[in-house]
Amino acid sequence: MLAKSNVFQFTEETLQALRADAPASASVIHFNNAGCGLLPRPVLETMIDHLRLEAEIGGYEASAARAEQVRDFYVSIAELIGCRPENIAFAGSATHAYSKALSAIPFEPGDVILTTRNDFISNQIAFLALRKRSGVEIVHAPDLPDGGGVDVAAMAALMRARRPRLVAATHVPTNSGLVQPIAEIGRHCRELGLLYLVDACQSIGQYPIDVEEIGCDLLTSTCRKFLRGPRGSGFLYVSDRVLAEGYEPLFIDMYGARWVAGDQYEPVDSAARFEEWEFPYSTLLGCAAAARYALSIGLEPISRRTPALAARLRDQLAAIPGVRVLDRGAQLAALVTFDVEGWDPQRFKSAVDARGVNSALSFREFAQYDFADKDVEWALRLSPHYYNTEAEVDTVVEMIADLAKSAPV
Ligand SMILES: Cc1ncc(COP(=O)(O)O)c(C=O)c1O
Repeated sequence: MLAKSNVFQFTEETLQALRADAPASASVIHFNNAGCGLLPRPVLETMIDHLRLEAEIGGYEASAARAEQVRDFYVSIAELIGCRPENIAFAGSATHAYSKALSAIPFEPGDVILTTRNDFISNQIAFLALRKRSGVEIVHAPDLPDGGGVDVAAMAALMRARRPRLVAATHVPTNSGLVQPIAEIGRHCRELGLLYLVDACQSIGQYPIDVEEIGCDLLTSTCRKFLRGPRGSGFLYVSDRVLAEGYEPLFIDMYGARWVAGDQYEPVDSAARFEEWEFPYSTLLGCAAAARYALSIGLEPISRRTPALAARLRDQLAAIPGVRVLDRGAQLAALVTFDVEGWDPQRFKSAVDARGVNSALSFREFAQYDFADKDVEWALRLSPHYYNTEAEVDTVVEMIADLAKSAPV
């Protein structure tokens, strides 16, 4: 089968060096970067080194000794998204960061949360939980007629008509390759002075992200996916405007606030008010190393190679009889989703696993609106990254073609 798409090439030497930094790439085809990227060797070494130091000199003493590297978590993530280090809070996951952000908004009954039909499952559940507890109204902006993501003009009209307390958009959802126009949405939010929260969990490490250009007030991500940081990590960006307006999380601790008198506390000035006193320091240092690693390769080249590898995969899969590629949209990220006629999802994934390819399954309940619109019950997700090769893409295509031919009845 001939690939239609032109994949941006790293030199062979660069590619081999990148693969040598990801030892698993020698034994598996890791197409589950949207789940969790492979840790680059410097990230792993940084983390192990810190754990060793904790064991050797004591946990508190180790973090004090590494104060400069700890600070680099904030500096490197700020560099990655175009803000000051003081705008960044560490979080245990993207969902942790998102809940902290939502908890800072004093919702009242009748307040509107305006979001999209492709926002992440846990965000949608959090909005429903807020509706149950605080009586907010959840409004979903309609999608474009071709299913290629949110209709920004319709969303802007809803902003004007409903004056939402919060506008929330997911850049790249978990369940398809769709890229939503978050900067266009942001321009309307800025014009109308609306609070804007972006979920950039699948785009950090895959695309250059600039919070000024997006115009968001809050942005959340994990570090473990395309950024290739450790599990159990993420961050929250909090804009200067939000900090100045005094937003603070519902539960704030001795790190996020000063207890200035028996009956009084004052939140700290920076985004640290969204953090807690205790940190998994080896994880935090691993995140800094991952951000430095991505920055050293360059987000621009990554954003050309990674989605292009996925496009090569998507184009070839679409030509296989029985395979239905499900990604829609003008711009598509490195998440390739499809289902295969005649296969049960778990058995299909097991067959893919057995052939040495890492993948992920999505089900209807992960994407109630999107999967209902597409009339699908399940999808296999393949998500390559820059360190994967064109040859791996072609091997996977052949393997899926074989499986599609031999669907059990
Ligand atoms: C778009 C999106 N947002 C949020 C999350 C949640 O991230 P975490 O598991 O770090 O909470 C995911 C995870 O897959 C995601 O894909």
